[in-house]
Amino acid sequence: MKNVSIALLGCGTVGKGVVELLKMNGALIEEQLDTHLAIKYILVRNVDKYKDARLPETIHVTDDFADIINDDDVEIVIEVMGSADFAKICIEECFRKGKSVVSANKDVIADYGIPLLKLAHEHGADFQFEASVAGGIPVVRPMYSSLNSNKIEEIIGIMNGTTNFILTGMTDRELSYEEALAEAQAKGYAEADPTNDISGYDAARKIAILATLGFHSYVTFTDVSVEGIERITKDDIMHAKAMGYRIKLLAVARQEDDGISLAVHPAFIRKDHPLANVGDAYNAVYVRGNCVGDVMFYGQGAGALPTASAVVSDVMNVIQHVNNDMTGKRPYLWRNAEIKDAGEIKTPYYIRMIAANAPGVLSSISGIFARHAISIRSLIQKDETKELAEIVILVDSSANGVVKTALEEIKELPCIDCLCGAVRLIEV
Ligand code: NDP
Ligand code: HSE
Repeated sequence: MKNVSIALLGCGTVGKGVVELLKMNGALIEEQLDTHLAIKYILVRNVDKYKDARLPETIHVTDDFADIINDDDVEIVIEVMGSADFAKICIEECFRKGKSVVSANKDVIADYGIPLLKLAHEHGADFQFEASVAGGIPVVRPMYSSLNSNKIEEIIGIMNGTTNFILTGMTDRELSYEEALAEAQAKGYAEADPTNDISGYDAARKIAILATLGFHSYVTFTDVSVEGIERITKDDIMHAKAMGYRIKLLAVARQEDDGISLAVHPAFIRKDHPLANVGDAYNAVYVRGNCVGDVMFYGQGAGALPTASAVVSDVMNVIQHVNNDMTGKRPYLWRNAEIKDAGEIKTPYYIRMIAANAPGVLSSISGIFARHAISIRSLIQKDETKELAEIVILVDSSANGVVKTALEEIKELPCIDCLCGAVRLIEV
């Protein structure tokens, strides 16, 4: 039986998951590949921290990347450190030495995926990153493999478990945003600093990776227009429910004749849509191909073993490539992408405001919409107090930039007490 030596960069949640998975399923994997996978090194910053980690004794735990890069016996490097700059340097070094890399690092891949793929190709190495999007859900490979006979038109995903857990708690258990966030932190879904999740940056990196592969286009994280869930209130959730919708943080990529649109934002989605029923910390990715139609991938987007499942499957893929003399030869097609400006993306909108309960208020609001050629789809008004009224408006699909300008004008009206919510609707 062949032996393949592997180095693991990082031994946190995912790294430990990889060690555990190989313990659990090593025999099954060997049987499939006729190859024994041996972790030879683990790189960490603080070796002492791992003294009691009960790692197999055959593994050399080091804080020196030179041990790994200079060992020609190491064929495959798994990068699960998460740091952006150092991880990128390590990955590049590996390719230059002809070592294949498997990574879960969306930060690096969303920004440098294509240059890294090119470098890997130049050096006859493989670069695989299934775990970088939606953890254990197989969705990266379908983009360039199982669905590659299609023109992919649309990718819509719930790709961040933390925010989905928060929004589910606010919807199903009527928690406030702060209560739901605290619970997500207590359960270990949200990190101590949850900014990347809450602000939508984590999902933005993931949709950039899928759009690059699915649309054969060179897009990066900076091409994605991003809005997080910070401003979603219980009132918005309640109105969404009453109108037959759920609010989800959606990552939306569309490939249309006039360009590619890429956005992450909270959105109303009809309650009977499969994405609306993806609860708690689960992820799902909904893909529309021009021949296959609609396909949905669903499962655990994070966690030690689900993520390790994707990582180790990538390692197995690399070994199969070695066995078939395919290493570094994955064919890619990528074009420079025509990215639509965020303001040009069209969606319907939900808008909630508190206004004076007085004659002429509705006409001044609707007058502004009319001037911007924005059509009102529905309007509900409720007395808040004798003096104030709550107004909830749905407007038809309009360019987001135009809606924002109209809302700025409405906000300045003397009759407006608060422009409290504006959330896009995704109709699929
Ligand atoms: P953790 O923070 O749990 O672990 C990081 C590990 O990397 C630690 O062992 C740390 O060592 C080591 N490390 C970090 N920086 C360095 C460095 N400069 N030099 C050497 N070692 C370093 O991260 P996770 O396991 O959660 O995540 C790893 C990657 O996987 C990230 O890119 C993440 O986005 C991605 N990912 C994570 C998922 C999850 O469920 N956690 C899901 C999908 C992807 P030390 O302890 O000594 O500092
Ligand atoms: N922080 C991410 C989430 C998991 O909440 O989904 C890692 O990608």
